[in-house]
Amino acid sequence: MQKIAVVTGGSGGIGLATIKLLANQGIKSISWDLNAPHEDIPFVKCDISSDDSIKAAVAETIDKFGTPTILINNCGLQYLAPVDEFPLEKWNQLIAIMLTGTFLCSKYLIPGMKKNGWGRIVNISSIHGKVASPYKAAYVAAKHGVLGLSKVMAMELAENNITVNSICPGFVDTTIMRAQIAKQAELNQMSEEAVATQIMLKPACIKKFTTTDQVAGMVSYFISDEASTITGEAFSMSGGWGMGH
Ligand SMILES: NC(=O)c1ccc[n+]([C@@H]2O[C@H](COP(=O)([O-])OP(=O)(O)OC[C@H]3O[C@@H](n4cnc5c(N)ncnc54)[C@H](O)[C@@H]3O)[C@@H](O)[C@H]2O)c1
Repeated sequence: MQKIAVVTGGSGGIGLATIKLLANQGIKSISWDLNAPHEDIPFVKCDISSDDSIKAAVAETIDKFGTPTILINNCGLQYLAPVDEFPLEKWNQLIAIMLTGTFLCSKYLIPGMKKNGWGRIVNISSIHGKVASPYKAAYVAAKHGVLGLSKVMAMELAENNITVNSICPGFVDTTIMRAQIAKQAELNQMSEEAVATQIMLKPACIKKFTTTDQVAGMVSYFISDEASTITGEAFSMSGGWGMGH
């Protein structure tokens, strides 16, 4: 039977790399994104911060492509500010997209997976699901929350042959990361190059950014038969953050 995957925020970065890899493996993969992709991939317009929009995307996807049994909760964004200056509106937006969005997409696609007797959920959390950095209050809170939610879903869904795992990348070379380098340079009054080497890669053993293809490869592993007994895990892809001090 044709496997169908939904990748939220699949029109760029890690999501797009994942869609391409899964498509090469014969899995029909659909991007749920605010923005249409520049490349020719299946796309359903969806605002992951809106319950109504997610419900509409579920209906449109089932109608056009069939019932998804793989969900990659990938959509995300960053906003940097000190806690006492963090705008409530930005806090609510980041939590809505990364935490509530992960909950809602899972909630609405789990029934189809249960009916199918098999399913896979992979959440793209972050190394910031395990550790903190200054100025990232909403992001760190949302990504920690995703790991907690994943563990609950792993426990609830094991008997249905549905696994739930998370990936915790360090820094991956995408738009979200490049925008962050510029903002950090402004906040810390440093050059962008100094931000990359002295702040972003400082906690890592391997002083290189992870690639979108490498994260896509781990998604592919978590949805494979080889990973059928792995659930509730949070796998770091961070070049070895925090191995010492
Ligand atoms: N790039 C990194 O360094 C890094 C590190 C760790 C974790 N991550 C996580 O990886 C995931 C993907 O990030 P990326 O780096 O590929 O980012 P990206 O900015 O390249 O892609 C994010 C996608 O999400 C979409 N999007 C944003 N808001 C949306 C909304 N409300 N509804 C629907 N779609 C929306 C954007 O249009 C975009 O296509 C995010 O959850 C991010 O937190 C990224």
